[in-house]
Amino acid sequence: MCENRSSDSLIERVVTLSKKKDLTKNLFVLSLESREPFSRIQPGQFVMLRTSLGMDPFLGRPFAVCGTGENSLELLVAVAGRGTRLLCSLPEGERLVLRGPLGNGFPSQPGKRVHCLAGTTGIAPFLLARQETPKIEVHLGVPGRDWMGLATWAAERIPGLCVYSEDASVGLGGTPLACIDQLDPVTEVVWACGPTGMLKAVQAACERRKLPCWISLETRMACGIGGCHGCVVRTVTGLRKTCTDGPVFDSREVLWNE
Ligand SMILES: Cc1cc2nc3c(=O)[nH]c(=O)nc-3n(C[C@H](O)[C@H](O)[C@H](O)COP(=O)(O)OP(=O)(O)OC[C@H]3O[C@@H](n4cnc5c(N)ncnc54)[C@H](O)[C@@H]3O)c2cc1C
Ligand code: FES
Repeated sequence: MCENRSSDSLIERVVTLSKKKDLTKNLFVLSLESREPFSRIQPGQFVMLRTSLGMDPFLGRPFAVCGTGENSLELLVAVAGRGTRLLCSLPEGERLVLRGPLGNGFPSQPGKRVHCLAGTTGIAPFLLARQETPKIEVHLGVPGRDWMGLATWAAERIPGLCVYSEDASVGLGGTPLACIDQLDPVTEVVWACGPTGMLKAVQAACERRKLPCWISLETRMACGIGGCHGCVVRTVTGLRKTCTDGPVFDSREVLWNE
């Protein structure tokens, strides 16, 4: 596992929302500028972003990093509830509070061909991975035409991106899981990020094929740094915290919470 947690990752810093780009009505790319440089960010690592300098909302929200510069990073944010709605309604120039990078990213895979399977905003860590390793293959699944903005934007950044929607309204008909049956368990490996239902299906399909597979979990988080136990997940080695033991886990370890 790629562990990259320096102590300054744990300290909150003020960042500026330097650019906001809307991909759809409810999906935004937020560019954040910091005065101090960020430590190196591994694909799969996340930041906790507080939507205001004040106390409301009190808790930060976790987001995977999808792009980096020396003093900047990019997040792909879908409106899901109150915190993300507030965040996405802020004007450029607004100041926010950020902690990170946090957690463990996807492990490096020397000599293996990596196939990344993403469900909607789950593409965020693979945009970063692709920035560093052009050889990986990325497969994106979206629910339908409403997500065309994401597919178009991601395809500009990832030449050769395979896009799927179940009704074939965007890209090919089907889901990113379609590629799994063609992969070689000795030379190829799967990384996946997306909704829990998709991750369970990827886990089962890779287990059937004996394919090595790493999944990034999106459990709810409160502190993001191991202090609240709000993000625990059942695994073969007992309860583990998604924020500090993950969010990326070997798929064979995850037993889920129900
Ligand atoms: C490691 C990690 C990386 C993430 N990366 C991204 C990303 O790149 N882009 C992005 O848009 N979102 C990402 N998420 C999900 C994002 O953090 C949640 O959508 C956000 O916290 C919701 O906050 P809210 O206040 O808007 O919603 P709330 O009002 O708190 O909840 C609204 C709805 O969203 C659901 N929800 C809340 N938290 C999560 C969560 N962690 N995962 C899934 N559903 C949730 C709730 O169950 C509820 O149905 C990530 C989550 C984790 C743990
Ligand atoms: S979010 Fe607090 S321990 Fe993980």
